[in-house]
Amino acid sequence: MCGIFGYVGKRVDAGRVVIRGIKNLEYRGYDSWGIARMIDGSIAVEKNIGKIGAVNPESFSDVCSLAIAHTRWATHGGVTVANAHPHLSQDGSIAVVHNGIIENFQALRSELEKKGYVFQSETDTEVICHLLQEEMKSAKSFADAARAACRRFDGWYAFAAMNTGTHELVAARRGSPLIVGIGKGETFIASDIPAFMEHTRTVNYLDNGEMIVTNGERTTFLSIENGKEIKKRNVEITWDREQAEKGEYEHFMLKEIMDQKESIRRAVNQDEEQIQTIADAIRDAKGTFLSGCGTAGKVCMAAEYFFSVIAKHHVNYAPSSEFPLYHHFLLPESLLIVVSQSGETVDVLEAMETAKKKGAKVLAIVNAEGSSIHRLADYTLLINAGPERAVASTKAATGQMAVLLLIAYALKKRLNEGRQVLLEAAEQTNDMLNPRYLTHIEGIADRLKRHENLYIIGKSWNYPMALESAIKIQEVSYVHAEGFAGGELKHGPIALIQKGTPCIALLGNDEVKMDTLSNTIELRARGAHTIGIAPEKNEAFDEWIRVPDAGTAQAIVNVIPVQILAYYLALKRGLDPDMPRNLAKSVTVK
Ligand code: BG6
Repeated sequence: MCGIFGYVGKRVDAGRVVIRGIKNLEYRGYDSWGIARMIDGSIAVEKNIGKIGAVNPESFSDVCSLAIAHTRWATHGGVTVANAHPHLSQDGSIAVVHNGIIENFQALRSELEKKGYVFQSETDTEVICHLLQEEMKSAKSFADAARAACRRFDGWYAFAAMNTGTHELVAARRGSPLIVGIGKGETFIASDIPAFMEHTRTVNYLDNGEMIVTNGERTTFLSIENGKEIKKRNVEITWDREQAEKGEYEHFMLKEIMDQKESIRRAVNQDEEQIQTIADAIRDAKGTFLSGCGTAGKVCMAAEYFFSVIAKHHVNYAPSSEFPLYHHFLLPESLLIVVSQSGETVDVLEAMETAKKKGAKVLAIVNAEGSSIHRLADYTLLINAGPERAVASTKAATGQMAVLLLIAYALKKRLNEGRQVLLEAAEQTNDMLNPRYLTHIEGIADRLKRHENLYIIGKSWNYPMALESAIKIQEVSYVHAEGFAGGELKHGPIALIQKGTPCIALLGNDEVKMDTLSNTIELRARGAHTIGIAPEKNEAFDEWIRVPDAGTAQAIVNVIPVQILAYYLALKRGLDPDMPRNLAKSVTVK
């Protein structure tokens, strides 16, 4: 996924505005960046390889009141200046920034090449600006040309474009997110809200198949299908900007880990009636499926245990990228529960489409209010974690698990008991997250920093947390970490263990504690250096990280010290934990 930002209005420092804006979207992709500004009636483009973070917005203060910018996560075409956005049309009159994939770009490219257009890049995006130029030949306006072009595109996209002939921004979306910031006599367009929150809290969301044309004073929403105007209601954003900032912390990842002192409690603060309605819907459904990607997927796996152990209720987990293959099992009476932090992950949106095509209902558990998944679901629960900017998901994961645990208890009509268990865990987490605890784990990271392999074991809901722990460590430290169900060790993975191999064991005071302890002892017998994450110390551990005894909420507290370990491993290995290589905060392309 990439980040796009656009501004049109009466300000004369639009260049500075869009550079500041796109810097707030850097977590969406940081392979290259670029800006296009309308200066004295012609378009000036500047683009570079690398992160926009270090760029000084003040160096873009030429008089300009219309500009677009982009930060790239490369999918089509390598990381080169030519492939960086914005892309210009052949005659230089149109500039485009784009997030998503135009799937039929090769066909469009060869059609345009036959018409004499010469392509400068390997990207799919470049077909947009050349096709816009082509459509302008017969269109009655720039917006009209954009609509005609959109009707030729297959795939998921969000793009913003400007044209020398008009003081207008045109933008369109199908699939990839695009939000409009409404100011006084000025309009902002961005992939996400934090990008323009310093200017306005009044937003409007472009829905799928919609486009806008705006000159800052007048903003019109149009249907791409029939060109008709769409009346849309503005929304006021409630969360404050500080929540989206690093505050006293050096990195968003550590700030968001520490936010869990409060975010778990906020996740528990759900409307009781709605939770019960959802629990009843699960009880009455003919087959309930859980689905998500990455960390959210591991959260779904943990929820399978919550529903089984607490509610004695069978639910099925499937990774969203695989879910469309499950359509055979879907009935109109089925229920799909999707979990997503960003609410924009394309594989999750496709899973929802699969379920809806079968007439099944969809419950979404999301963090990003107003996101596509939030707006497309039949039922929605917000986890109230506040903006999560670090690529590695932390506070969203524990918030998602808290909501799913609450639902499991509601399924057994024990909602208050569930709330108590979670509020207790939130209190314990608040106590646990203190500087001495961080220093203890930092010390362990220092001793592990030279290891290139690390294994994590767990049973019951600690098994998916072993998998999530592996993702966290892989994502930010690039250590080859792998998670296993404790009992699976003997059936292969134990062959990987040699003297000093670091192995983490996740435990709780539950019925599988002794099993995991004996698995840990087996690892130690093969020379492993064992790190126990458990309520009590045990001689099976070479190192111990204490966690509270949180009962059925153990998975929620157990993953937090691994988040901290991953953070310090990244620092000790000289890496930026907020922007790991090759990753993006949410993947809006297939
Ligand atoms: C990946 C992120 O791109 O998407 C992960 O790097 C995240 O952290 C995964 O877990 C799923 O994202 P989301 O927003 O759907 O929860």
